[in-house]
Amino acid sequence: MSEAATTTKTPPLEAIDAFDPALLQDPYPYFARLRAEAPVWRDPKTGIVSVSTYDLIMKVNAQPRLFSNDFSAQLRSGTTGDIDPDELAILGQGVPVVSTMLTADPPVHTRYRKLVMKAFTYKRVEGMGDYVAGVVHNLIDRFIKDRRCEFKSQFANHLPMTVIADALGVPRADMDRFRLWSDAFVVQLGGVSDKATRLDAAHRVIEFQRYFIDKIEEKRAHPTDDVISDLVHADLAEEGDPRKMDYPELISILQQLLVAGNETTAHSLTAGLYFLISNPEQLQRLRDDPSLMPNFVEETLRYLTPTNNMWRLATADTEIGGMPIKKGELILLRYGSGNRDTNHFPDADRFDVGRGNAKSHLAFGAGIHTCIGAQLARKEMNTAFPILLERLQNLRLAKGAGPLRYNPNILLRGVLELHIEFDGG
Ligand code: HEM
Repeated sequence: MSEAATTTKTPPLEAIDAFDPALLQDPYPYFARLRAEAPVWRDPKTGIVSVSTYDLIMKVNAQPRLFSNDFSAQLRSGTTGDIDPDELAILGQGVPVVSTMLTADPPVHTRYRKLVMKAFTYKRVEGMGDYVAGVVHNLIDRFIKDRRCEFKSQFANHLPMTVIADALGVPRADMDRFRLWSDAFVVQLGGVSDKATRLDAAHRVIEFQRYFIDKIEEKRAHPTDDVISDLVHADLAEEGDPRKMDYPELISILQQLLVAGNETTAHSLTAGLYFLISNPEQLQRLRDDPSLMPNFVEETLRYLTPTNNMWRLATADTEIGGMPIKKGELILLRYGSGNRDTNHFPDADRFDVGRGNAKSHLAFGAGIHTCIGAQLARKEMNTAFPILLERLQNLRLAKGAGPLRYNPNILLRGVLELHIEFDGG
């Protein structure tokens, strides 16, 4: 049956609230309708334009001049109103906000991206296998005797946070604070939170800045082998601007490294385990043929798509898939939908560890903003899963565990809790 045929009895698209937390629990039926009925859809309530097919998302990402990533001012002001003065007053106590990578366009984006790629060298990440394995074993040691755990908070949150703290060269003891700060940035990017939540997030952003300004000064005086030291001492000379980066630039980059890598990887680890437990035949296939591991990781990224949606801003009057777009319109690239597009991924709603083209997913985006941490996230997942499968035998959902809940955030999708039981010790 075609996607359109399955949806004839449902309400019209304009009657659906795309930000409804209930819809965000499972956006895939809505995505299927968008792809079938309106691959480029301007929501009459919000004016936001959704792009939902694989090919059209790729097309938008291939035109960064027309579809800008400099969307933060637009988001801060909401899609209709003015910038909230209370939020501005709090943020005004911190360093000025500058766009460096995720929210910048060329040539600014190109300059910073090059510098960060140097600090996140291939060698630095490729050489991390044994170290990541050590962190994984330590985390498992903490709960394996219990034969049960809440996997997200006891394992998945800790692995990427530990790895990024070590890579940046800041104490692991401060990780709980990183988590609060990371959540605050997610609120800012989501663009849909109420005022109280946004004000609270703004306070945390200031705390984050103060903490990292201290660290920057520390590394300036006493450089060590870590990403902050590399960034602090990096020279913009090659980019025609012979100087070191200032606080606003460094803070912007550190904020992105902290946020972009933690929730996304934690959600991917949690969801991957859940997909295996809930598809026992796929778990068995992976146990029988461990060479499928990298493909299972890609399929998990495709199937979950932790960065489920991402913003763009039209810089000129243009079109997408024949639909006229006006300069200044806010566009939502629906990566989660592109990853379930049956024209690109046959039987796309099926989780299949052997899927031939899993790696062509959009979970890391595409084009000039493709995720800088993709290699690191893959390294963490490819290291963690074999160890988890080896040590946690007879994996199952915990008895009495409630129904699975997803994070109701427009940008980030992930399993909030995963209670599991297992044998081993
Ligand atoms: C499973 C884990 C991850 C997922 C799913 C993910 C997803 C993404 C996506 C979709 C983008 C592109 C955004 C766009 O289209 O504008 C992106 C960009 C980015 N990611 Fe990741 N990411 C992950 C892990 C990481 C890690 C571990 C780091 C760093 C330590 C990181 C750092 C960044 C940065 C800095 C950007 C901005 C790049 C640019 O604008 O040029 N990410 N990520």
